[in-house]
Parts: sequence; C-alpha cells; structure tokens
Amino acid sequence: MNWYCKCKIYIGIRSLLQTHVALGDTRLSFDPGGSTRAKRAAPTTCYSDKNRRPFLMLLNPLHIFLWTFRRNEHDVINLYNSLSPVMQLATGGDMLNFGYWNGNASGLIEAQNNLCSLVDDMAELGSAKRLVDVGSGLSAPATLWKSAHDSLDISCVNINLQQLSSSKQPYASPLNATSTALPFSNKSADRIVALESAQHFKPLDKFMKESRRVLEPGGLLVIAMPVVTEAHPFFKLGILSWTWSSEHYGVDYVKSSITSNGFKIKDIRRIGHQVYEPLTDYYVLHRGSLRENILKRYPPLLESVLYNSLLKMRDVSRKGIIDYVVIKAS
Ligand SMILES: C[S@@+](CC[C@H](N)C(=O)[O-])C[C@H]1O[C@@H](n2cnc3c(N)ncnc32)[C@H](O)[C@@H]1O
Repeated sequence: MNWYCKCKIYIGIRSLLQTHVALGDTRLSFDPGGSTRAKRAAPTTCYSDKNRRPFLMLLNPLHIFLWTFRRNEHDVINLYNSLSPVMQLATGGDMLNFGYWNGNASGLIEAQNNLCSLVDDMAELGSAKRLVDVGSGLSAPATLWKSAHDSLDISCVNINLQQLSSSKQPYASPLNATSTALPFSNKSADRIVALESAQHFKPLDKFMKESRRVLEPGGLLVIAMPVVTEAHPFFKLGILSWTWSSEHYGVDYVKSSITSNGFKIKDIRRIGHQVYEPLTDYYVLHRGSLRENILKRYPPLLESVLYNSLLKMRDVSRKGIIDYVVIKAS
C-alpha cells in the first residue's frame, strides 16, 4: 500500500471518528433550579440546517467498543443516547424494555405494558405511598403506574439526564443520579423498583445496600432483569456476548446479592420464555416494516446486527442459557 492510500484511509477513519464523537457525547448537566441544559449540544437526531429533516445517525466505533467492553456509567449513557431511538422507532412508544408476552400481547407496546403491570402487582403499588423507580428510562413506566395509582408519589432516578429531560411525565420527580448512591434519606420510601435496569448497576451489591438503606422496614424491592443461568456462558452467547451491552449477572449471584444485604426474597418469577422468544417471533414476523422504520435513522448493518442478536437471544433462551427474572424482596 503506498503512502497516498495510507493517508486516505487515515483521514477517512479520523473524520469518521470525529463525526461520531460529535454525535455521541450528549451528557447533560442538571440545573438545581429545575431546568436542564446541555453541556455539549449534541442531540441524538442530526438535522440539516434548512429543512430540519432528520438524517442517518452514525455510530461511533470507539463508543461501541467502550460500551461493549468497559461499560462504565459514561458508556451506558452513550449507549442509550445512541440506541434508545431504535426501540422508539420500532415500537412507536417510549418504553425501553423487552416486554412480557404472556399469551395476550399482540405487539411490543402491549407486552411492555404487561411487564409494567406485572411489576405493579409484585410491588403491590396499590397500597404504596412513595415509589423510587431506579433506571427509569423515558419515565413511560412511571406514567403508567401514576395513571393507575393517582396518589402515588414517584421519583424517577436515572443516570441519563437526556432521557430524564425528554420524559413526558409531568408528575414524577426526575433525579439525575446513580443507582449506587441514591439521593434519598434513610427509610424514606416504601417501594423501590428497577425495571430492566439493574443489569447495568455496578457493583450490584452497592445498589442493594442503598435500597436497604432507603426502604422503610417492610418496604418492597422489585427487580426485573435479564440474567444468565450458567457461570461462564461467553462462548455459548455468540453474537450476544458483545451486543448484550451490560453485565451478564447470574441468577444465583443476583439472589445472593439481595439476601446478603438484609432482604428476604418473597417471590421470584422466571419469565424468560415469555420475553425473548415471543419478542423475536414478533420481530421476525414484522421485520419488513420494523426494518423500514429503523433504516430511517440507522444504517442497515445495525438492523442486521439487531436481527441476528434477537435470533441468538431466542436460541439461548430456548436452551435455558439466559432467563429473565422478576424478584420481589422485603
Ligand atoms: C433498558 S432501560 C429501561 C428503562 C425503563 N425502566 C423502561 O422499562 O422503559 C435501562 C435504564 O437504566 C438506566 N441506568 C443504567 N444504569 C444506571 C445507573 N447506574 N443508575 C441509574 N440508572 C441507570 C438507563 O439510563 C436506562 O434509562
């Protein structure tokens, strides 16, 4: 390869990285007065100046590497800033979970509502006063719980300020904080839920300790999360070992982290077969239209990786290598 080719490749890679860095780093700062402002104005959608039509969102290869292998809180923020619109484009809704397809769900939004209802039931929200939702996404679950339980006081805790500030939930208090240092006084809540977020909490033990501190005696902790069932399933996970960008906590580890921090497990539901398999079946059946929506903002490679990850997810769920647990502890 001559020097000219080398230079072209170098300039190509450099400009690719620069473009992506400009798009990807969207951490916002939280204003104690209640308003939010961007530290660096870099929205997830990129607009052309004149007609403000969205164009293709490119992903930063460095970010992909970091959120796959390093997975610190900054990487998790970038991950969601870059990828949560995929879920919104696919569903047309604002929830960021896989859903619970317990027989009657005809689509993803319905399945996601079902998962919220399951958490609602297990957390006994009907008799709750003060709920802390840790890893609240775009606050869509909080909206649902608030509509079912009018007097419930809800705090939405999220490390991702962009998600908090774009939430359409006017009733819940948004708190830009991490799961491992909850901004609440001792015994100040009677419910804590983590709906498909605890797979990111690091160290998980610290979240459990914080939950124990914040919950009043008799209060309930409900966690819904993907888990692995074997100690080291790395090779069996195939493409998921790098596209499943969170910790791969084992179910036994999660249970022992709960009990070693002073909780008693009151109920545990293993619903993996009603999560991954029907979700994949749904995607396969509707791939044409879902793909079309996703390609409005993302490159075809991303959709292809998503599709293959879902197929693998269905496969390893059928084999019992991954599961999805909803755990209630007190
Ligand atoms: C898969 S989404 C689920 C969001 C929401 N519960 C839902 O079902 O729509 C995971 C959420 O956890 C948040 N999260 C990840 N790590 C966190 C941490 N350490 N502390 C607080 N929130 C965190 C992410 O920003 C994201 O909003």
